[in-house]
Amino acid sequence: MEQSNQTENIKAGKPVILSGIQPTGGLHIGNLFGAIKNWVAMQDEYQCYFTIVDLHSITNKQVPAELRRSTLDMAAMLIACGIDTDKSVLFVQSHVPEHAELAWVLICLAGTGELSRMTQFKDKAAQHPENVNAGLFAYPVLMAADILLYQADLVPVGEDQKQHLELTRDIAQRFNHNYSDTFKIPDAYIPKTGARIMSLQEPTKKMSKSDENKKATIFLSESDEEIKNKIKRAVTDSGELLNDDFFKNASINHESLMDFMKNRPGLANLLTLYHASTNKAFIEMGKDLAGKGFGDIKSIVAEAMADYLNPIRTKYNEIRKDENKLKELLAQGAEKAHSVALKTLRKVYKKVGFYSL
Ligand code: TYM
Repeated sequence: MEQSNQTENIKAGKPVILSGIQPTGGLHIGNLFGAIKNWVAMQDEYQCYFTIVDLHSITNKQVPAELRRSTLDMAAMLIACGIDTDKSVLFVQSHVPEHAELAWVLICLAGTGELSRMTQFKDKAAQHPENVNAGLFAYPVLMAADILLYQADLVPVGEDQKQHLELTRDIAQRFNHNYSDTFKIPDAYIPKTGARIMSLQEPTKKMSKSDENKKATIFLSESDEEIKNKIKRAVTDSGELLNDDFFKNASINHESLMDFMKNRPGLANLLTLYHASTNKAFIEMGKDLAGKGFGDIKSIVAEAMADYLNPIRTKYNEIRKDENKLKELLAQGAEKAHSVALKTLRKVYKKVGFYSL
């Protein structure tokens, strides 16, 4: 069954998607609404490769036993969110050695100047000045290798990965120019709503798994009560209530209204979360939220979010119990990914002039 679906997709010449997520720290609603929800929605139309990037995760210090556990946790959570291993290839990055191999070739094409301009590198280096390792510096090149190995057309990510995607395109173009056409040039796919879910405590900052303030981030593993409490304690402002017209206009011109909300980032974040967890259009959201006080709005959003996440958590607990099955699914994924990655790597090695045995 699994094999035939994969073959069908490849035969049908479907466009290719690749995306990745780090295994450590657990999945939060920023990852879910910025990336995973789109991964799930795109599985029928695209040949999808989703990878759990354990090689990337060791750019930070990790406890080995925890890394092993969280890699399996992440796989179970992705499946619980709707990644269907009959349709998509789900695998762990370190199981497919071509990622590290292609990364080396691409590192030799990447400039130290362009890498030092990467915002994420600058942020992480500032956060952990004691551990600015060369892996952290080369991180986006490994990401380029992830994408280019599968000749991806589209890469669904949150806004924070946009700069890395631009670098991937630059490196791919450079390789094609230096050697001859080899890589497809991928496009980023960034959702209109949810591309940047903000911290619940400092809504001008993106939600992040490493936030020291535990009230700022909602993890998918948290209980209904914890989820509701975090939303009810979210930081908003004390400005005007939102009326019916606001929601009508938002339905017509979503972007300009989100712009208008920029000076009310906490409230904008809650509206985004309501939209993402109910799939309601803004005009529908107005029926629930217009004229309501902020306390009521938070309660409504809190209920919706808990209702949305509860079945995912139940499924996760079920899937996570059967570790052998999970490992088997990941082994199958790695095999499929490997066969595609190897083809690209062979081409690359030939083009750069490596003598093959
Ligand atoms: P990571 O693990 O930090 O995040 C996984 C995905 O979640 C998105 N995301 C968010 N979206 C909206 N709001 C937020 N607050 C938020 N926080 C995170 C990220 O944009 C990402 O799409 N470098 C990548 C992993 C990676 C990758 C790749 C991605 C490795 N190789 C190849 C795409 C293609 C990362 O650290 O994501």
